[in-house]
Amino acid sequence: MPIRFDSDKNVFYLHTPKTSYIIAVLENKYPINLYYGKRIEGLPDDIENIIPTRRDGGGSAQDMEGTNLSTDLLPMEYPTYGSSDLRTPAFHARYSDGTSVTALLYSEYRIMKGKKLLVELPCTYIEDNAEAESLEIYLRDALKGLEVVLCYTVYEKYDALIKSVRVHNDGNENIRIESVLSSTIHLYGSEYQAIHLAGAWAREQNLLITDFIGGKFSVDSKRGASSHNHSPFLALAEKGTNENYGEVYAMSFVYSGNFIAEADEDCYNTIRMQMGINPFNFEWVLEPGQSFQAPEVVNVFSQDGFGGMSRTFHDLYRSRLVRGKYRDTVRPILINSWEAIGCNFDENKILSIAKKAKILGIEMVVLDDGWFGHRDAPTSSLGDWYPNKKKLPDGIKGLSKKIVQMGLKFGLWVEPEMISEDSELYRKHPDWCIHIKGRRRNLARNQLVLDLSRPDVCDYIINFMTEILSDRNVSYIKWDMNRYMSDIGSASLPPEKQREIPHRYMLGLYKVLENLISNFPDVLFEGCASGGGRFDAGMLYYFPQYWTSDCTDAVERMSIQYGTSYVMPIAAIGAHISAVPNKVTRRSCSLETRGNVAICGQLGFELDPNVLNDYDVKMIKQIIEKYKQMRETIHNGDLYRLKSPFYDGMSACNIVSKDKENVIFFLGTFTSKPFSGKIRIKLKGLDKNASYSDKEGKVYSGEFLENYGFLFENVIDYTSYIILLKKQNNGG
Ligand code: DGJ
Repeated sequence: MPIRFDSDKNVFYLHTPKTSYIIAVLENKYPINLYYGKRIEGLPDDIENIIPTRRDGGGSAQDMEGTNLSTDLLPMEYPTYGSSDLRTPAFHARYSDGTSVTALLYSEYRIMKGKKLLVELPCTYIEDNAEAESLEIYLRDALKGLEVVLCYTVYEKYDALIKSVRVHNDGNENIRIESVLSSTIHLYGSEYQAIHLAGAWAREQNLLITDFIGGKFSVDSKRGASSHNHSPFLALAEKGTNENYGEVYAMSFVYSGNFIAEADEDCYNTIRMQMGINPFNFEWVLEPGQSFQAPEVVNVFSQDGFGGMSRTFHDLYRSRLVRGKYRDTVRPILINSWEAIGCNFDENKILSIAKKAKILGIEMVVLDDGWFGHRDAPTSSLGDWYPNKKKLPDGIKGLSKKIVQMGLKFGLWVEPEMISEDSELYRKHPDWCIHIKGRRRNLARNQLVLDLSRPDVCDYIINFMTEILSDRNVSYIKWDMNRYMSDIGSASLPPEKQREIPHRYMLGLYKVLENLISNFPDVLFEGCASGGGRFDAGMLYYFPQYWTSDCTDAVERMSIQYGTSYVMPIAAIGAHISAVPNKVTRRSCSLETRGNVAICGQLGFELDPNVLNDYDVKMIKQIIEKYKQMRETIHNGDLYRLKSPFYDGMSACNIVSKDKENVIFFLGTFTSKPFSGKIRIKLKGLDKNASYSDKEGKVYSGEFLENYGFLFENVIDYTSYIILLKKQNNGG
């Protein structure tokens, strides 16, 4: 049984195959975070010995009801501020008497088979009750009529601990929630490094590893979206941890809005690591009888370094977070019109792209921005989602039909959450955007953000998207979002609820997406936010793949895709081959290298196939052919990162199918010098007792590949290799 309650000791055990999480409820009813780490079956008989007690003479050590304990020193399972614990809380609220102290005492628990879905929020799920067990711990502050339910799930199969929090107002007065984080754990000692993914537009998810030297380390977003700047992910790892060894504690947020992830060390080397909705500029008025559901955090503990951590996220996310038809099916290779033609096209141009794409072996044509209203540049018409008849005389219906008749799928770009000042929609509904009455409306990218905290705005999006998707020839949507929130205000909410807008916006967006994906289950949705500006686990619940970055330069992509793979399965990583010189970096990498980098993700193209020379055509056909052979492994395989573009001057990985039959090896270099030394790269995760052959018929044993590996000589800048290996039938 993954979850067990020892009623003699008042201890909860939550086990995954390789990890344990243990919570003890103390005599005075405070639950504490007793252990998280490698799986252990039990605790010493006398658990008093492992509870951190008060130090002598500590002025900060507040008394806890005459015991030798202090919440200021204990690893509180769900910390609040002020009732003796004076560190950063997970929960903070203001009550009708103006005070802000909450004391949450244990009242009861429930252990259940399976896992509940979260109301209105994305979350991991089960398909069968036998897959997981869940625990709910009920805490109460009787004085304030507050109930907080801590929810935990552990799966039989995945080494992940899922946590979320539900708050209920049982009293007679409003409670103003100011902070309601979703996961808290405690670590001891100061030998940790903080690992996070940071970046900017066109430089998303770059890996940063810094020594955590005490004090506070935090990453966050206040932008109304998880953002390009920081991914909602944080890990603390023992110093010296690498891809294969070392202990890592990681948190990933299943949420797409403002977040905080932090590690806060106290004066006794206790590190409190937390994640949740960013308390900055957040407030939620909970009226009597109402509940608030905080989003889910997926906690992963890995003993097998960063590689082990990532493989747990990948396995869980691709099978129990991603949903729908494309969870289990490989996805079409697409060509997207954006980099080739921008907003400047007509139907003939799109059809000519489609014709050539078909010859190359591409499977879907995606018409990006510029097809609606009078949008000839990204400056107008967002909101006017009817086809521009000058460009598309037969509309989307006519175009999509012609493309489908060519034997291709058809996909369309939309940016539903936005509105242009220059649009019919804005002229009709100037108060539908996020704005503050009387204050100038800041235009970013010439657009404003629609106010998705309003149900009427959400209905409008559902309606026009339903009309678009009712054309059964539209089998893919690229859902873009190109600016963050500013001047936050809503014309439809009273003053005391204005700080609820960013979260209400996310609830509105999730409601819209839920409606569309359930009504159109065969449509593939790809997320985008100026590239990877909202590429988070929350979005993965609706979008099985994501446009990772507007930077398609192969060298930059090695870093972006490497960092993104820390949490995201590689099948979710949209990766396109574009023309050179690259539009963002002006670099010209060979087609081979552009291809080798893109086939390690969800392959697509971002170029005009009409201008390719014969060599390019031949090469692209080969790339597509190769991808078709390997995409099943990209979809389901285990990723082993072998060399880091952030630390090794090259990027290398191998991907192994679950049955270890197929192996994809990738190496891309970018800092080699002429006649530099040899590069030897050892593979991982193979069947050591088997033999593998490559396309040229060379045979290697799994043992050899893992211990000797591949040797490369005289590698020059931007060279790359893909080697496909197949297990031989006769074994080793
Ligand atoms: C930003 C996206 O990241 C691009 O791929 C493209 O779709 C443009 N928006 C279109 O405006």
